[in-house]
Amino acid sequence: MTLALDGGTPVRTAGWPAWPPPATPAQRAALLEVLDGGEWGATGGTRVGAFAAAFAASTGARHGVCTVNGTVALFLALRALGTGPGDEVIIPAYTFVASATAVVLAGARPVLADVTPGTLHLDPDAVARLIGPRTKAVMPVHLAGAPVPPEPLEELARAHGVAIVEDAAQAHGASWRGRPAGTLGDAACFSFQSSKAMTAGEGGIVVTSDPAAYERLWSLHNVGRRLAGGWYEHPEVGWNLRMTEFQAALLLPQLDLLDAQIAARERAAGLLAGELAGVGGLTLLPGPDGTTRHTRHLGLVRYDAREFGGRPKADFLAAMEAEGVPLDAGYRSLSRETALRPHTGAVSCPVAEAAEDSVVWLRQNLLMADDGALADIATAAAKVRRAFRASRAA
Ligand SMILES: Cc1ncc(COP(=O)(O)O)c(C=O)c1O
Repeated sequence: MTLALDGGTPVRTAGWPAWPPPATPAQRAALLEVLDGGEWGATGGTRVGAFAAAFAASTGARHGVCTVNGTVALFLALRALGTGPGDEVIIPAYTFVASATAVVLAGARPVLADVTPGTLHLDPDAVARLIGPRTKAVMPVHLAGAPVPPEPLEELARAHGVAIVEDAAQAHGASWRGRPAGTLGDAACFSFQSSKAMTAGEGGIVVTSDPAAYERLWSLHNVGRRLAGGWYEHPEVGWNLRMTEFQAALLLPQLDLLDAQIAARERAAGLLAGELAGVGGLTLLPGPDGTTRHTRHLGLVRYDAREFGGRPKADFLAAMEAEGVPLDAGYRSLSRETALRPHTGAVSCPVAEAAEDSVVWLRQNLLMADDGALADIATAAAKVRRAFRASRAA
């Protein structure tokens, strides 16, 4: 069968589910209530506070502070836990650039650690080598909705007196041995940017169970005010990093949808893992041992070029796109991001760099598709594999 790239018929011409899904009646009604009620900001309205409390409770954390986005949530968490100029924060090299730039925003230095080959999570052995007197925090990233096992990091953090800030931007609803993301560190940060499993277009939250951290978070995101203080009392320097009532209105009803959406993606991931195993050369990365819930915000798939006639990942992505299956190239390893060099120095992270070269992503909307559409993914991959192998043999 001729590849669609070479003029053949594509495996799939139908589209994929939209993300975010169409607004629900509850979201429309809540948005209009905010609009007509006139309290559009968090300082006058009640929805931001209600959402902060409800989301924090859904993770098992005691407190939540909503922010304008996830990057700022990370910045706030770092600052509230005492990170600033002269400090170092250890982060994984395979993550979104914001994990690093939030550290820079806090005035500290991001230290890149390599990741584990199986899950692409922050490698505790690398952390053990990099942790030192300047380290103020360690930032595990629950990549793609897979929870990072906390125990080895907790041991290191305890031994060195450093904080753990979870980057849970992609992990709403994830859990490890029954412990939800949000309670696997001293503070955890979630994003509500457009692509995320819960979204208001933009937005973020920091959750914590530490009352002192909560007070500082609240103050720093609210121009240095105190919880029980006056409007023009600013005992410390803070910023206006507050969420709006419109964002909270969109987010509150999503708390009721999240579990079913995760269940749909988990089921799809199970089906797809089996189908891809039948293709050969493609492996859907599983969560780490101890995973209770991998939310499959993304499906990370390892592409073995040797099984595809030696053709590079970019060729595979182009051929799949033409077959009607849009995949994503995913991150560059942060060790290869030249803009970060002045902050990180030149470092080599071989596992993250190999992931950049060999891992492809399925966005969550593909994992919300019906079974026929999921089968199309494997059919397209098998077609591309056959064609690539045949062109090498020819
Ligand atoms: C791992 C990770 N960290 C941080 C962020 C930053 O979140 P935001 O885009 O809301 O600033 C994102 C998402 O964009 C992310 O995927």
